[in-house]
Amino acid sequence: MEQMKVVLADNEIPRQWYNILSDMPTPMSPPLHPGTGKPVGPEDLAPVFPMNLIEQEVATDRWIDIPEPVLEKYLLWRPTPLCRARNFEKILDAPVKIYYKYEGASPPGSHKPNTAIAQAYYNKAFGIKRLSTETGAGQWGSALSMACAMFGLECRVFMVRISYDQKPYRRLMMAAWGTECIPSPSDRTRAGRKILAENPDSPGSLGIAISEAIEDAVGNKDSRYSLGSVLNHVLLHQTVIGLEAQKQLAQIGEYPDVVMGCAGGGSNFAGISLPFARDKIHGKKISLVAAEPASCPTLTRGPFAYDFGDTAMTTPLLPMHTLGHDFLPESIHAGGLRFHGMAPIVSHLVKEGIAEARAYDQIETFTAGVKWARSEGVIPAPETNHAIAAVVQEAERAKQEGKQKVILFNFSGHGLIDLSAYDAFLSGKLTQHRLTDEEIERALKSIEGFPKP
Ligand SMILES: Cc1ncc(COP(=O)(O)O)c(C=O)c1O
Repeated sequence: MEQMKVVLADNEIPRQWYNILSDMPTPMSPPLHPGTGKPVGPEDLAPVFPMNLIEQEVATDRWIDIPEPVLEKYLLWRPTPLCRARNFEKILDAPVKIYYKYEGASPPGSHKPNTAIAQAYYNKAFGIKRLSTETGAGQWGSALSMACAMFGLECRVFMVRISYDQKPYRRLMMAAWGTECIPSPSDRTRAGRKILAENPDSPGSLGIAISEAIEDAVGNKDSRYSLGSVLNHVLLHQTVIGLEAQKQLAQIGEYPDVVMGCAGGGSNFAGISLPFARDKIHGKKISLVAAEPASCPTLTRGPFAYDFGDTAMTTPLLPMHTLGHDFLPESIHAGGLRFHGMAPIVSHLVKEGIAEARAYDQIETFTAGVKWARSEGVIPAPETNHAIAAVVQEAERAKQEGKQKVILFNFSGHGLIDLSAYDAFLSGKLTQHRLTDEEIERALKSIEGFPKP
């Protein structure tokens, strides 16, 4: 019988996260203080994050121990299975073997709890009582809600208005875990009120919701802000995915030619690919491909520049691929991919040619996702459909080139709370959307005159 999945025992779970900063072949530009133009120091970040996470953000040790209480919670669903997509391979009829890490196995349904659990733990250990955050699709907000409930922290989530309206079940999940979920832009913060005054019907964006959550957190000494992607420590926590995958593939004597993941802020792509990026830096031949939406093409069409992580310009200036902090992406259904920037680590890897990026239209991604659901069973999150579209394209290429390929991708989440997006697709309401060069030029005006990395 063919082996369809590789399942690690509990005691095979990785005990350490992998820190790519220790292996980066060229130095990364530092985040800058927007006022002074100098690199930010730990004290600048102290009102926003607890010091133990700030230390992790700048750590350069190759391996960082996963604390026991975090491992204990990971074991509720980790190690996640590595599965072979045999049925999908059959319908693609290409010379490829497709393996995927099933991160939809977590209680909220995505990879997000890998960092939510860690962040809740470190905040609790630092004496923090409440966390504020933003959420796009609702996956991150529900992951942090669960993590806060497990570690006895209060949680407040600013949810992008369009997703709040499209996905009532995500906010009900958050409520079940004890969180207060507020549609953003809201009248709770200065940043939210300013946007509402300009556009009372604003659909919101991750950039706006981040501004609101930071403002909400920094006003209170017992509160801190928590981010579900982009930052170094978030990507670090996600490496548990790729580390497990390496062990699982080794057990069946496989090594991938291509590693793929969808990219919104960059965390699940980084999670699966960074341990393989280490191999690549040390000489392995392997492609690492980030799949992003054509309507928010940060890596494929945005410059590598300094920009704010949020719309109200409250974060440090981050060196990253960006479309400009004012950029308001179309209300595509993959809410978790509607972010104007990209993780500095992922941006740096793309700039250095270690990783690459490809963009996919939403019709193409849902077509791939439905094909997947009808062959493999699980209905993917709309974000995950971007990775599946990339797999389909890679399989096509293998067929054209007549080459055998092993593809590994991160199945970042299931789509059971995103069925309204499938409804829109199946009833023909989704349209193809591609940004014009003029739209991108206009959005990039907001970073004119900023320092260059
Ligand atoms: C299922 C799923 N996949 C991917 C993403 C994109 O985020 P990231 O690029 O940080 O992994 C999200 C974000 O909400 C998500 O919910």
